Amino acid sequence: MCGIVGYKGKREAYPIIVDSLKILEYRGYDSWGVAISGNLSTSVIKEIGMIGDADSLGDASKINRGTMGIGHTRWATHGTVTIENSHPHLSSDGKIAVVHNGIIENYQALRKNLKKKGYVFKSETDSEVIPYLIEDFLKNKKGISFEDAFRKTLSLLEGTYAIVAIHDGFDTMICARKDSPIVIGVGVDAGEYIIASDVPAFIEHTKNVVFLENREMAVFNGDMKIICSVTGKIITKKSQVIDWDIEQAKKGEFKYYMLKEISEQKETINKAIHQDDKVIQDIADAINESYGTFFIASGSSYHAALSASYTFSRIAKKHINVVDSSEFPNYEHFLTPQTLMITISQSGETADVLDAVKVAKKKGVKILSIVNVMGSSLMRNSDHSLLMNAGPEICVLSTKSYTSQLSILTLLAYASVGKLDEGKALLRCVANHVGELTDPKTILSTVEVASYLKDKEHLYIIGRGQSYPTALEAALKIKEVSYIHAEGFAGGTLKHGPIALIEKGTPCIVFAPNDETKKEILSNAMEIKSRGAHIIGVSDKDNEIFDDFIKVPDVGHASPICDIIPIQVLSYYLAIFRGCNPDRPRNLAKSVTVK
Ligand code: F6R
Repeated sequence: MCGIVGYKGKREAYPIIVDSLKILEYRGYDSWGVAISGNLSTSVIKEIGMIGDADSLGDASKINRGTMGIGHTRWATHGTVTIENSHPHLSSDGKIAVVHNGIIENYQALRKNLKKKGYVFKSETDSEVIPYLIEDFLKNKKGISFEDAFRKTLSLLEGTYAIVAIHDGFDTMICARKDSPIVIGVGVDAGEYIIASDVPAFIEHTKNVVFLENREMAVFNGDMKIICSVTGKIITKKSQVIDWDIEQAKKGEFKYYMLKEISEQKETINKAIHQDDKVIQDIADAINESYGTFFIASGSSYHAALSASYTFSRIAKKHINVVDSSEFPNYEHFLTPQTLMITISQSGETADVLDAVKVAKKKGVKILSIVNVMGSSLMRNSDHSLLMNAGPEICVLSTKSYTSQLSILTLLAYASVGKLDEGKALLRCVANHVGELTDPKTILSTVEVASYLKDKEHLYIIGRGQSYPTALEAALKIKEVSYIHAEGFAGGTLKHGPIALIEKGTPCIVFAPNDETKKEILSNAMEIKSRGAHIIGVSDKDNEIFDDFIKVPDVGHASPICDIIPIQVLSYYLAIFRGCNPDRPRNLAKSVTVK
């Protein structure tokens, strides 16, 4: 959460930083700010709201035209959404500017000490202690360099951080990380570096990246020097080339990333299943041989994991433990070195997932991750990783990453019974169907349903068997982007309480695929219809119970992949009809790097 950027090179920094922040906006959009180093002083611009609304050329008149600067787009944790709490934060002499992503847990004690020394805080944030500490070291230790003052400051910080700092007097930019992401783009021109929370922020300028590890810092002053922030030892690192291109990070002809990413799914499913057969088979064998396999994930990724556990049960008669990553520490007593943990995460930066990995590693558990962002913390902390190859997912909502996760997990289920080729053939066919389901002509009937639902306050979704996780995911998609209260239930749960919510006209989406659940889910649909519910059936075949019908193909074990597509489309149009920004739902951020 929060996106940070730093630029040092020969070009004007401000427009580059603003454009990068616009791409990073999915990490937070409560407020934004930029600081640019000048000859005499640092100039700062801060605004409440989304940087997407800012005009990089118009606003540039308010700021100097220096070639070194930093920027931040905020998801508020400590302190409300105000200009004072927005980053960058400055030292009291105004020379040092800092942006921070993460949480400084001991900030109250640090603040108290600094206050005793006469420092006056302008914000309520945990981050503001950082420039003051650097300044304090510079003032009180004669001859100390900016680099050393920065490193000494790091030694006082407890918690998580990705920090970029600049200092006018030293013409130097420094960054460091601990448990919050930071990547360095190495520019094409000598001496040009762009630091960011995530690769898409600078993909327009370079594909050469250096990933910083925890407790590493990088100092930029003409060239780049990476050191261990604890020992001060120099670390040699090679840059890697990232296989993403700028078009993937742009909206193109689409107004919003959400619809663009929904429409990409035929391609992204094909890319997800384009894996090394031997690696897939080895992982499937490891699942078979393990003494207990855990799927660990959060949010939509958790729904994908839950859905896949049904697929494993159906195809391979294999039990998988699925645990929401935030609850995983409660399972540590069941872990042994024979346990296999498979973590599923688009960003690879979700704090709860990374924490679960820490807990499991202590018990000698082998960690495999299915991840979209190359070089992410999760990837670096896993024994093996499978990349989803979905390209950057910029809309806050998971759409293409969800179906990529389902595709890879389905492939593993087939491989675990020696039917990898059969699994691949099915998923190729699914990808084609998904292409049809996202076709502008096909979605028209779903748009009509969205228009019917747009003013409703509540909406319920039911499914049985492998459609139950689809119902949970469908409810999450609808509620997070349209703010309509939507809840997903297992069809069988209705009579144990939720049916009390049904009254005349209550809309209910019913997943009724052509599988063993069909008869019973239709009975459940009938039970709520007789109490006045308006039934929207998502099925391969229309039924007289349905008031509205959304047709999906019958693709057997892979039906969760096709079934969610119309609901993604529905969610998108509900947001549009209700005047919500589908890419930036309120209160949310894409990478949940805080617990
Ligand atoms: C919902 C959504 C979130 C994420 C969750 C996990 O649309 O995007 O629920 O799925 O925050 O994120 P990753 O997959 O990055 O670990």
